[in-house]
Amino acid sequence: MCGIVGYIGYNDSKEILLKGLEKLEYRGYDSAGIAVINNEGVHVFKEKGRIVDLRAAVDTNVEASTGIGHTRWATHGVPSKTNSHPHQSASGRFTLVHNGVIENYDLLKREYLQNVSMKSETDTEIIVQLVELFANDGLSTEEAFRKTLTLLHGSYALALIDNQDQETIYVAKNKSPLLVGLGFGFNVVASDAMAMLQVTDKYVELMDKEMVIVKKDEVTIQNLDGEVINREPYTAELDASDIEKGTYPHYMLKEIDEQPAVMRKIIQNYQDQNGELKIDANIVSAMNDADRIYIVAAGTSYHSGLVGKQFIEEMAQIPVEVHISSEFGYNMPLLSKKPLFIFLSQSGETADSRQVLVQVKEMGHKSLTITNVPGSTLSREADYTLLLHAGPEIAVASTKAYTAQLAVLAILAEVTGKSRGLELSFSLIQELGIVANAMDVLCDSKEEFEAIAREYLATTRNCFFIGRGIDYYVGLEGALKLKEISYIQAEGFAGGELKHGTIALIEDGTPIIALATQGFVNLSIRGNVKEVVARGANPCIISMEGLNMDEDRFVIPEVHQTLTPLISVVPMQLISYYAALHRDCDVDKPRNLAKSVTVE
Ligand code: G6P
Repeated sequence: MCGIVGYIGYNDSKEILLKGLEKLEYRGYDSAGIAVINNEGVHVFKEKGRIVDLRAAVDTNVEASTGIGHTRWATHGVPSKTNSHPHQSASGRFTLVHNGVIENYDLLKREYLQNVSMKSETDTEIIVQLVELFANDGLSTEEAFRKTLTLLHGSYALALIDNQDQETIYVAKNKSPLLVGLGFGFNVVASDAMAMLQVTDKYVELMDKEMVIVKKDEVTIQNLDGEVINREPYTAELDASDIEKGTYPHYMLKEIDEQPAVMRKIIQNYQDQNGELKIDANIVSAMNDADRIYIVAAGTSYHSGLVGKQFIEEMAQIPVEVHISSEFGYNMPLLSKKPLFIFLSQSGETADSRQVLVQVKEMGHKSLTITNVPGSTLSREADYTLLLHAGPEIAVASTKAYTAQLAVLAILAEVTGKSRGLELSFSLIQELGIVANAMDVLCDSKEEFEAIAREYLATTRNCFFIGRGIDYYVGLEGALKLKEISYIQAEGFAGGELKHGTIALIEDGTPIIALATQGFVNLSIRGNVKEVVARGANPCIISMEGLNMDEDRFVIPEVHQTLTPLISVVPMQLISYYAALHRDCDVDKPRNLAKSVTVE
């Protein structure tokens, strides 16, 4: 959460910083600010709200070729102009932006800053005040910054400027993501390469507990003992057009529409010369060495993990447990003797998942990260990585990353199963091709989903999703999508479970979205629908060709029964999208959420 940028060079920095922040808005968007420095000193502009509000507040007459910026997702202190970054030290000499959470900020405040009156309610402010305190004691800015870093407990990505020196940005990182981008005659700092792709595609990764002295023609990475570290830059393989909306009104709609192409790209990337699905042999052997697999994930990725369990148990016959990462770290189950951990994470940055990864690594267990972001923290720190090849996902509500996760999990399951001598009764590669075609059909049926959203969800207070077997897991994801972006109270239930309590909430007209894509429970789920209809519910049954009945509201094209979640989720995504539109919600940036949750 929160995104930071920095620029030091010859050009005016304001526009570069603002454009960078626009690209980072997915990380938080409740307030934003920039600080630029020129011969007159530091100029700080901040605003509650979006980058567009900040842009309006920036004085266009100020020109400065060094600056830092921040877009915020509040943790300490309400979203307000005062609490928004950049924060300044008491005298105004130092100015700082921060992404992360300083756990010992209260302690540090009591120990060192009793005499300093704080302007904001943030944990961040103590960092900048400490730097000034130590600088006042006679330390150089570099030394004062380093000394401050050694005192901090928690997560941080930091960029600091000193009004006595226009030529330097001081940068540091621990747990929160941060990159330094390299240019000719300028250098940049960003939470994500996407932000600065406008000016460079060359980046240097930073490791935890490193600090960097960034000048316009020099970047020096050091550890906290001041030892210089040499690291080669890499080229960010991002296509600038991937991160534009193009003609779409929202990123979410674009990303839903991209799903068939993503399926095809995954098939291509996970295929060998003989047209067989392939996975790195080391990963397959790690799967085979495991007596149990633990999938650890959050949010939408947790929901794809639930489906992944079915895939792996069915196709590879290895037992799987799926856990919510924020719980797993504190409440670890009794582990098997030879566990393999799979971290599912679109961003590869989710702090809750990372906390578990750190723990299981300490215990000596093997780990695999399945992520959309190469070089992300979870990818770097796990033993193995499988990439989703979904292209950047910008809308906060995850869509194409979910289906990409399912496809990669299915391939992993199939290839592992094959290596164990298990043959599937179907060709996964062919069936994934059929899935891609079916997704095309669904993406072409938008008016029908718009009509469903209008009919069932335009004014409702709540909505329930039911399904049995694998449909239940898709229902959970459908409910999450709907509540994330339309703010309708939505819950997913196993078809048979609703009557054990929640049926009490059914009133005249309560919408129930029921999934019926599984032949062996087709009649049972329809029985559950009858139970709620008898109590006044308004059912919307989404079934699959071959299982459909007259009462169904929409019939999805037939795909292999194991792979139905890959396509039955598409109506859930589109219905949620249109419900949010009907209710005038901000689809791509729903209230209170952030795409990359880098705080625990
Ligand atoms: C946030 C996002 C969700 C996402 C979850 C896990 O809450 O808003 O869309 O599913 O984080 O993120 P990850 O990047 O680990 O998949």
